[in-house]
Amino acid sequence: MTDVSDDQRVLEVAGLHRAFGSVQAVHDVSFCLARGGSLGIVGESGSGKTTTARIIVGLERADSGRVLVRGRDRSAAAGRGRGARLERAREVQMVFQDPFLSLDPRVTVGSVLRETLRLHVPEAKADHDRRVEELLDQVGLGAREAGAMPRQLSGGQRQRVAIARALAVEPAVLVLDEAVAALDVSVQAQILNLLADIRQDTGIGYLFITHDLGVVRCVTEDVVVMRHGRIVESGRTAEVLADPQHAYTRLLLDSVPRPGWNPKAIAVARRAL
Ligand SMILES: Nc1ncnc2c1ncn2[C@@H]1O[C@H](COP(=O)(O)OP(=O)(O)OP(=O)(O)O)[C@@H](O)[C@H]1O
Ligand SMILES: [Mg+2]
Repeated sequence: MTDVSDDQRVLEVAGLHRAFGSVQAVHDVSFCLARGGSLGIVGESGSGKTTTARIIVGLERADSGRVLVRGRDRSAAAGRGRGARLERAREVQMVFQDPFLSLDPRVTVGSVLRETLRLHVPEAKADHDRRVEELLDQVGLGAREAGAMPRQLSGGQRQRVAIARALAVEPAVLVLDEAVAALDVSVQAQILNLLADIRQDTGIGYLFITHDLGVVRCVTEDVVVMRHGRIVESGRTAEVLADPQHAYTRLLLDSVPRPGWNPKAIAVARRAL
């Protein structure tokens, strides 16, 4: 894992636990993300990735553990009012797999962005039109898309809108939960390139959740591997993928379809683990 000194940490997660009834969805999860860094979370379906993300963003509570952004505890009791909620939203933004669920179908893309700016930076009202244009440009969209409703856009364009909206508040951390999973491979590549450019330009840190190891290889520097709510392995992405230490990570790597791939043997190995 990249050595991240205290003042370099934009996000730190320490000892997170969350149970749903008898299911331990997240068990003692800890990691940190450097300012402008990119950390992947991989693991099979149900391993606790989304629950971890939702706790970080504040959509889900933890049973125990801490989430610090820029060294400050996000769950601090002092911050339950509206102002504190907005402040937390400005620190960490999330992009989901399906932007349809998070975009209001009744308003145009331009209005979506203007509304976000109105909520978070009302004092800069005179600047909002220019900022909407700038945000759309940043994600490769223009005036035509600004006037469109979400349903009039392609899946890739909608995901660009969701990214633009997240960027509107200039967050320190962007959590992307399977954000490119529903896109076809060429659009996926475009969005991944776009995200890489944005990270370089803005210094926003990414927490990149995916079960696609190819995506992890492309866009992350460090990775944690989760299974049944626990981290079973973590380290530099290139090293973990080249020389996995845990049997589960090896299994994930072996599960990627390729010539000579043997799904039956993988199923047997999974049961044995
Ligand atoms: N609100 C909830 N109520 C009950 N159980 C839940 C809830 N949210 C998640 N779980 C359970 O917690 C576990 C972890 O779920 P989570 O959504 O975090 O997995 P995931 O790694 O994101 O999976 P996927 O790759 O399929 O998105 C699962 O067993 C799931 O059924
Ligand atoms: Mg999930």
